[in-house]
Amino acid sequence: QIDEAEVVAFSVPSYACLRRTTLDNHNPVLTDALSLLAENAELSDEDGRGVAFRRAAAVLKALPEPVTGVTQLRGLPCLGGHSLRVIRDILENGASSEVEFTKQSERFKALKVLTDIFGVGAKTAERWIRDGIHSLHQLQESGQTLNRAQQAGLEHYDDLKQPVTKAEADAIGEIVEEAVVSVLPGAQITLIGGFRRGKLTGHDVDFLITHPEEGREVGLMPKVVSWLESQGFLLYQKTTRNSYLEAKDGPARPASNMDRFERCFSIFKLVTDEGPKPASGHRRWRAVRVDLVVSPISQFAFALLGWTGSKLFERELRRWAGHEKAMSLSSHALYDNKQGRYLKATSEEEIFTYLGLEYIPPSERNA
Ligand code: GTP
Ligand code: MN
Ligand code: MN
Repeated sequence: QIDEAEVVAFSVPSYACLRRTTLDNHNPVLTDALSLLAENAELSDEDGRGVAFRRAAAVLKALPEPVTGVTQLRGLPCLGGHSLRVIRDILENGASSEVEFTKQSERFKALKVLTDIFGVGAKTAERWIRDGIHSLHQLQESGQTLNRAQQAGLEHYDDLKQPVTKAEADAIGEIVEEAVVSVLPGAQITLIGGFRRGKLTGHDVDFLITHPEEGREVGLMPKVVSWLESQGFLLYQKTTRNSYLEAKDGPARPASNMDRFERCFSIFKLVTDEGPKPASGHRRWRAVRVDLVVSPISQFAFALLGWTGSKLFERELRRWAGHEKAMSLSSHALYDNKQGRYLKATSEEEIFTYLGLEYIPPSERNA
């Protein structure tokens, strides 16, 4: 019997951008459970519930030690009744019936399998499930028309499910760097996304490309893609044009949080073994998802901050900016609504300063 007065009570600020969240998670069982419910909500078009579970999981990720009882959670932010019930179930019974039920449900399993295909979102998966398609095999037999992305996704399904290692990310970084400097000397690439936050594996590799001279980056992506294609490095790519409109005195006010950089979603062919020819039936390469983004140098700090993640950290930064500072933050710019002007920055540190926040390095943005 533990005396309640001796129970460690935790204290955590409510915005994830006020917290330092490393990869050293002391409550993985609880956060995995809440993340699974978040995923299920997101796949079921219940984004509000999804965010609520993500916020609850993120609060637990920020705790300095394992939670042993719900009394420790008194006063913590973002823990609604639903999340608390799940946590209590796990602490007291070893498992949450809701989580176990969801995990086993045919609907969730089908949504997972289908949305794990690159190019397939929740809406498409939903439609297929309504047509009785619950597995890859059923999808292949169904005669459903697949777009180019989905075809590639299905073809490379097993490879793309395998986590990408940091060593693989670095190997791809070298190839992308060679491509970039070949087509535009002086251009620079930066590893972003989860690997910049220190993750050891990822579902893809993300790179931000820029050039120190404003304007030199225009038209860069198609050249990089052509170079990579000519060298046989791309199994799939889809490039989208920059649609960010420039006003006379600076970038136009972003209409939404969706960013409009020139970007490329791709599937790389990464050679994994340079040794002697492997026995027949074995290949010496694997498919890896790679995202490339090109930013002009004037927006680089915002792009870097916006593409480093985590997704929840980004969401919380924008919420903080909007609700607490009357500013609009995007991956392109920071707009001060009170002053009616854009705030220029050349580093992430400056952006945190504008926002009145202590600087949080990438390794502590793992909310
Ligand atoms: P893993 O790839 O799963 O290891 O994690 P990750 O954090 O790298 O996730 P992901 O590659 O999906 O995204 C990397 C970062 O880019 C995240 O911070 C996202 O918020 C951001 N991001 C992804 N897509 C978009 C987009 O369309 N617009 C903007 N602005 N940001 C995006
Ligand atoms: Mn990533
Ligand atoms: Mn990505």
